[in-house]
Amino acid sequence: MIFAANLKCNHTRESFKSYADALNKALKNKDEEIFVFPPNVAFLKEDLKFTQGTQNFYPCFKGAFTGEIGKEHLDEFGIKCVLIGHSERRILDNEALIKAKFDFAKEQNYTIFFCIGEDLKTKNLGNSKDFLKKQLEAIDLNYEKLIIAYEPIYSIGTGISADKEDISDILETLSVLTKAKLLYGGSVNENNIKEIQTIKHCSGVLIGSAALKIENFIKLIKG
Ligand code: PGA
Repeated sequence: MIFAANLKCNHTRESFKSYADALNKALKNKDEEIFVFPPNVAFLKEDLKFTQGTQNFYPCFKGAFTGEIGKEHLDEFGIKCVLIGHSERRILDNEALIKAKFDFAKEQNYTIFFCIGEDLKTKNLGNSKDFLKKQLEAIDLNYEKLIIAYEPIYSIGTGISADKEDISDILETLSVLTKAKLLYGGSVNENNIKEIQTIKHCSGVLIGSAALKIENFIKLIKG
């Protein structure tokens, strides 16, 4: 099971250092299935027992891109894992940029967590599957380091995950399109994680709010 923590715009380098120390201690050995995405300014340059990934980057090595970070900056921290297409970034990134990010990350052989998810209106109209398929059109579904996170927008940050049946139905559909590992994200917490983990084709979870405090994230990992 993959456990990925998206810390969003939370934690400073100082607080993330304590977070990482506690997680390293809890994991003991390197665990290839644990990922944490801290804010870029909190990246740590040390041996970690989990994989540190970036919530955002610009598809360049370096250059005249004000406010962005490129490969050279990720390299400094040994980062080879990226999150692309999160709904909170899709507000800022257009389709062309999302595709450029994917293509660049693939070229660099990065592990890519690609997020997709529909809003409530789309779901209620019965258009979820068409919408999600469209979000996947721009990317190579056969890329071997691809992980897809299904994160319905109507669930993110609400404390209420999507219905098990709905998640199950979507993951079933995605599993026909790709061999990539499939995750669920959207208000995963200690009350629903066990049930979510039993869903067919679910290879893990992407967690926001419930992973902000390291003791909570460790509890979710340890079950
Ligand atoms: P949430 O966030 O767990 O707080 O809903 C998940 C995410 O946005 O990745």
